[in-house]
Formats: sequence, C-alpha cells, structure tokens
Amino acid sequence: MDSYLKFRNVRGTKDLLPEEAELWRWVEEVIRKKMEDYNYQELRFPTFELTELFKKSTGEDTDIVQKEMFTFKDKGGRSLTLKPEGTPSVVRMYLQYGLYNRGILQKFYYIERMFRQEKPQRGRYREFRQFGAEAIGSPSPETDAELVRSALDIFNELNIHGIKLNINSIGCPKCREKFIREFKKFLCSRLDSLCNDCKRRYSTNPMRILDCKIDREKLIDVPVPLDYLCDDCRKHFSGFKERLGYLGINYSIDKHLVRGLDYYTKTVFEFTHSKLGTKDEVGGGGRYDGLIGFLGGDETPASGYAVGLDRLLLLSPQRKESRGIDVYVITLDKASDLTGWKLVNELRDSGFSADKDPLGRSMKAQFREADRQNAKWAIVIGEKEREGGSVQLKRMETGEQKEVPLNITTIKEELKC
Ligand code: HAM
Repeated sequence: MDSYLKFRNVRGTKDLLPEEAELWRWVEEVIRKKMEDYNYQELRFPTFELTELFKKSTGEDTDIVQKEMFTFKDKGGRSLTLKPEGTPSVVRMYLQYGLYNRGILQKFYYIERMFRQEKPQRGRYREFRQFGAEAIGSPSPETDAELVRSALDIFNELNIHGIKLNINSIGCPKCREKFIREFKKFLCSRLDSLCNDCKRRYSTNPMRILDCKIDREKLIDVPVPLDYLCDDCRKHFSGFKERLGYLGINYSIDKHLVRGLDYYTKTVFEFTHSKLGTKDEVGGGGRYDGLIGFLGGDETPASGYAVGLDRLLLLSPQRKESRGIDVYVITLDKASDLTGWKLVNELRDSGFSADKDPLGRSMKAQFREADRQNAKWAIVIGEKEREGGSVQLKRMETGEQKEVPLNITTIKEELKC
C-alpha cells in the first residue's frame, strides 16, 4: 500500500498513533499534576504572535530569530510568526492582562506546540511540543532552585533517569559590560580563526561565542562571565547553589553555558541526557530579570525554563502501571447483543470505561479483544444468563469468575472490589 500513498506528514512534524497519544496524555497529566503541586497555574496562548514580539524578546541576533522562525504576512500586511518559544507570549499575557495585579508573585506553566525551521533530525523537529514554567515577580535564587526541582520531579515521576543538570551565571548587564570588554580584548587576535557565525557575533552578541559548538576547542581558555560577576550576582549564584545543595540536587558548573536566547540574566541552566547524542539538551532555562521592563512593563524579576517533550519522549518514560479499559462486555448470541450494548452504555454513564464488539465475532475473538484492550473485567452474557437475569463477571488477571444479577447497581458494586 505504501507505494500508492500520495500524502505523508511533512518532514519535521510528527503524527501520534493511539498508543503514542496515550503516552503523551499521561505525560501531560503528570506535568499538570506536578506543576499544580508547585502552585503554578496553566496558561494557553495562540499559535502565532506579532513577529516583533519575538524579535524584541528572544533577540534579534539569536539563531531562532535569524534563521528559524516561520514568518508570514497576513492580508493586512502585518508580519506574524508561529511561536518558536513560550516565554515571550507569557510575558505579553502578563502585561496585556495586568496579571501583576493578582499578586506580587505569579507562577505559570504551559504545554504548547512550538515551531522552528530547523533541519529535521532525531530530536529536532519543525513542530514540537514544550512544557515550560515561568515564575514572575521573585528575584530570589530560591525560585530558580524551585523551578529546577519541579522539572527534576517531573522527570522522576516519568521514570526517566540519567538527566544531568548544568548551571552557570552570566551576570547582569552591569557585570556583563566588564566581561564583554575583556572577552573581546582576548578574542581580538584570534578572530580570524573563528567560524563565520562567531565573527559576526563578535560585534553583535559576543557572549554567544562561548557556546559555539564549532569553535569549542579554541575557546577553552577564554575569559568567562562567572569570573566577572558583581557582588550581587555572585551572592545570587551562591544562593542558588546552596538551595540546590539543600534539595540534594547534583549539578555541574559549565562556565561556557550561556544559552541561545538573549533575555537571560544571572542564573542559566540546562538538562542534558547522553542518550540524545549531539542534541543532548532536553530542557533549559534561567532568569530574565530585564525582559518585562524591556517589553514596556515595570522592572520585574522573572525566571523559568522549558523542556522539549518530543526529546523527553525519546528517553522512553515508563508508566508505573499500564492502563487498560475497565470492562469488556462479551455477548454470545444475537439476542444478548442488545442487552450487552445497553449494559456498556450504563457502565459508561456510571464512570467506567467500557466497550464491546460490534462485529458479532466469536466468543474466542471477543476474549482476545478483551485481552488486547487490557480489560480489568470481562462481562459475559449468553442465552443462559439472559434467561436467568444474570451475567458472568470475570476478573481477567486471575481468571476468577462469578455469576451476578444483571443489575447495574450490583455490577457497579462488584466492579469496585
Ligand atoms: P530553548 O532552550 O530554546 O528554551 O528550548 C527548550 C527546549 O525545547 C530544548 O531544550 C529542547 O528540548 C526543545 N527544543 C528546542 N528546539 C527544538 C526542536 N526543533 N525540536 C524539538 N525540541 C526542541 C526556550 O524555549 C526558553 N523559552 C526556555 C525558558 C523559559 N527560559 C526561561 N523561561
């Protein structure tokens, strides 16, 4: 059949088959439950925004804005962009709806699709999903540590192990000025040997040179922001490390970690996993104390992170228990079929997941289907049961079977055991 197919999903997008969709739904449930345990509230935002929002917040000189955005014009000539990340939209909503009036500290999470025009490969898609968390209003390193812990807690709940945490501080605009001066002075004589992106960044955004994958070897001994922190930033970084220590969270300091978005200040961090190969980053984030002021709000400290769900799913999260349907109703003759069908609907009305075979297949085939559906119970109705006003209730795991009256109240009680 394959060779006749005219349409396939576009490269860089992903279809989810039922078993994958079920896994994703469970992953999303875990995220929602955990984020709400941490007192974060869900936000949902549109698929596209004014292009200007991303240019201003994500940053003009980032790879995202320079190379990766899906940008188009609407009929009125306005430039719009499919959202490549969530932080700008969250900040926009925070300002647009005056969410600061709801209290000094506002904590949000989201599970959203994002779009980046990258070269598709394993773990890198053009449409992908992220969950993210943003805590707006707290300057405290306690909040940064809380964010890190919430992500680790989610990985743990999903039974994903082996994720590493790298942290760094890139300081505030004040200390960064001094760092950039020294950094540029140091690089000046080596500039010719750097890649074209780094040469450009030398004048537009020099700090980003630090995380260049191509020039990594040549940058081993360069000055790093951590060595130029002002007292306030140094104290903040110590506070962050101290809090991680209290929480028993292991981390490595990566002095070259600067992250690929322009809004970060002070704390930056990323989660990696060796199973993901060169694209080993599963998530990342940091503090962005300047962004809200920059977008027109009052100066407000903020911090957050996002995790790529598609990458997370490549790490094979394991459900602690596999889910199946509660009841599969098996009917043995035509006359029992209607009785069975009514029962299925009564069971659904009573909050059980229930199903039956609409194809009139053999008892054997129906039992096989009940197994395939991972049913906890099978209810069997044949001529004998119909005449006696009863059903056979079978616990699929043990094979235990008993006759009970064909009465939804009694059946409900039995199913709860
Ligand atoms: P980001 O590092 O650009 O940060 O993206 C976060 C995660 O999204 C990455 O670690 C990766 O797992 C996933 N991701 C990015 N691009 C792709 C792709 N093409 N295909 C699949 N997964 C991808 C942000 O987006 C920031 N908004 C994080 C943040 C929130 N910082 C503060 N608050």
